[in-house]
This record gives sequence, C-alpha cells and structure tokens, in this order.
Amino acid sequence: KTGLVTLDPGFVNTAACESDITYIDGEAGILRYRGYPIEELASNSNFVEVSYLLIYGELPTKEQYEDFADRVRRHTLLHEDLRKFFDGFPRDAHPMPVLSSAVSALSTFYQDSLNPFDQQQVELSTHRLLAKLPTIAAYAYKKSVGQPFLYPDNSLGLVENFLRMTFGFPAEPYEVDPTMARALDMLFILHADHEQNCSTSTVRMVGSSEANLFASTSAGINALFGPLHGGANSAVLEMLEGIRAEGGDVDSFVERVKNKEPGVKLMGFGHRVYKNYDPRARIIKKTADEVLEKLGGDDPLLDIALKLEERALSDDYFIERNLYPNVDFYTGLIYKAMGFPTKFFTVLFALGRLPGWIAHWREMMDDPARKISRPRQVYTGYAERPYVPMNER
Ligand code: SDX
Repeated sequence: KTGLVTLDPGFVNTAACESDITYIDGEAGILRYRGYPIEELASNSNFVEVSYLLIYGELPTKEQYEDFADRVRRHTLLHEDLRKFFDGFPRDAHPMPVLSSAVSALSTFYQDSLNPFDQQQVELSTHRLLAKLPTIAAYAYKKSVGQPFLYPDNSLGLVENFLRMTFGFPAEPYEVDPTMARALDMLFILHADHEQNCSTSTVRMVGSSEANLFASTSAGINALFGPLHGGANSAVLEMLEGIRAEGGDVDSFVERVKNKEPGVKLMGFGHRVYKNYDPRARIIKKTADEVLEKLGGDDPLLDIALKLEERALSDDYFIERNLYPNVDFYTGLIYKAMGFPTKFFTVLFALGRLPGWIAHWREMMDDPARKISRPRQVYTGYAERPYVPMNER
C-alpha cells in the first residue's frame, strides 16, 4: 500500500521506558527488585517487606517495617456500602472483573486520597489499596461459594488475614496453616513485579493521564485477566486436566502443540523476555514438591506437568523457539493444593503484583518529564485517495 517505511531512531527510543524498580536479564534468567536477587528475597524476606522495598526503593529498618505494616493493617476494612456491591454480582461471575470493578469503586468511597500530587494522599491510597485488595479478593471468593463474609482480623499478618477471610467460617475458629501462609507469601513475592509487562505498562499508561491510583490499578487488573498474561496460571491447570482426561498422553498433546492446532499452546511455557528458564519458575518448582506433599498429597497433575516439562525441554521444536517454563507453569498446582478454585488463580496473581503496580504508578507520577503516554505508530494504510460516490462503487 504505502511501500516501505523507515523508522527514525527517535521513534525507537520513545518505545522504551526508564525505571529503577526491577531488572530482568532474559538471556541469563536474572530477576532483581531494586538490585536484590529474587532468589534471596524469596528465601529471606516476606511479602510486606518486599512491598515496602518495591514502593520506597530500600529495605525497611525494623521501625519503618513495623510502621508500614501497622498503617496497612489499619485499612483492611471495606466501607459497608462497598460490601453491598457484592450482592449485585452474579454468583458465577469470574472474580477478575469483580476485582477491577471494586477497585475502581474505591475512587468513589475514598475521595480524600485521589490527588496524585499530594504526597499524603498518595501514601493513604497506597496503604488503603494494599490493605483492601486482599479483603476484596476474599469477598469475591465468599460470594462465589455463597458463604458469609468474614471481617478482617487485624491481629493477623496480611497473608494470614487473607487466608482466614477466604477459608474461615463465622461459625467456627479457623487456624491458618503456617505452611500454606509461608508458601503463599513466597508466591506473592515472586509475582510482586516484573518491569514493563502488559498489566504494569497498562497501569503506567492510564496513570500517565494523571488518573488516580485506584483507577489505574483497576485497568491493570483488566489487562492481567487475559489468558496470555495473568490468566495463564488457570489455563495451565485446564491444560493439565485436559491431558489427564485424555488418559495422560503427554506425547500426543505435544504433537498437537507442534502442529499448531488452533487454540492449543503449551500454557505456562514461553516468555516475551526470558529466553531461558524463568527464575521464578525454578524457585516455584523447587517448593511445589514440598508444598504439595504437606498440603495436597500426590497430585496426578504434578506428574503430568513434570512429564510435559521433561518432554518439552528435550524437543527441538521448543528449544529452537526458546520456550521454557514461566512463572505460571507450576503455580496453579500449588494454588489448587491450597484449595483455591482454578478461576481464582489470576486473582492471586493480582494480589502479588499489586505492590509492583503501585511502585510503577508512583515512579511515573514522580517523573518531572512525565507526560501522557502517546505511542507513535507506523502508518501502513492507503495513501491519499478521492471519495467515490456510492453509485460508482
Ligand atoms: C506472564 O511480560 C511479563 O513479564 C509477563 C509475566 C509477568 O510476570 O508479568 O511474566 C507473566 O504473562 C507469563 C506468560 C504467561 N503466558 C503463557 O504461559 C501463555 C503461553 N505463552 C505464549 O502465549 C507466549 O509464549 C508468550 C505470549 C508468553 C510469549 O510469546 P513470545 O515469546 O513473544 O513468542 P511468540 O509469540 O513471538 O512466538 C514465537 C514462536 C511462535 O512459533 P513460530 O511462529 O516461530 O513457529 O514460539 C511459539 C509461537 O507459536 N510459541 C509457543 C508458545 N509460545 C510461543 N508455542 C507453543 N506454546 C507456547 N506457549
């Protein structure tokens, strides 16, 4: 149509974005939050501390940590009128649109913390969002199973509180399983940020118009919902269950993938940046055995996953395309062993990714050069042409 178009260097440069938050080396399989290797944070830190690190850029002192944890804890309750939103959602609704709707509605209930250029309001919206998203997620689960909602118990930590609101009952005491809490805390750390992925770029893009933190995060939740992004962890379980339903024949499934059968992909494999093993998948695989043994006993789907991975890693089709397990390949098995239904796995991804979204939104807001993100395009349509009256077409 318009012939070849050459890109000027300026165009290419505007495509990249600068950030101090997360470093990824896709070839070497390296992931660091504010310079700290993900392996060290997963082994030594906790999700609240990593949230502080991502948002403020440094590991907190004991006093800073306790003050931050206390400020977040104070905001776990939802406004009673916001709780009523859940009465209106259909019981079989997917929880991700429920989450994005409730987060967007936070802008209507907490209007005293919307100004992105008032530091106090930014701090307040940061604490409110970190505290309320677990409550919203737990209520979305309770709505889906028709059980009464539990108010938060602020004597518990963030992850324990979420597990209790999700799996506890008003009629009887609920003891949080420490193995489950530690495993979920570690999984949240591994999901906490991943530089300019689809959902984080969405949060930055929406925030670049000076939209408030709740509105920008709601957009990020919708981007994460997609099966090629955050929806992949649920899609992995559906894929494994499909293979099991067909008698567990991994080889014939792999052949279908290689034949590029429409809609048949090796979910949980491949990555836009990692052309090596995703370092998060390596950590998760290591803990999957331990966690599954303690929580869920031997899961036949784990055997299928291990066979699938072994088969793919030795097959030229996948090797030539740099297709390795990503963060989603094993997470679903652990979430299933914890008792979460498959369609809630992406909600757990959102809970983990939240501090990353907040850190990027704040970084972009603090950037004096920030202006509305306006990607340029390469026009490939028709050159100018005259209008043709309908009776001549
Ligand atoms: C996440 O960006 C992030 O950081 C995301 C994330 C985060 O933390 O935010 O890491 C989280 O989203 C992880 C990815 C989860 N998605 C999935 O697991 C879905 C399955 N994966 C694919 O959709 C795919 O691998 C992508 C989209 C994730 C990445 O695609 P790429 O690397 O850009 O590869 P491509 O689409 O350019 O394809 C290259 C080739 C193609 O074959 P050919 O045309 O060359 O013959 O690889 C093939 C593709 O068909 N291919 C796959 C495949 N992924 C790519 N073939 C089978 N199964 C797959 N999963």
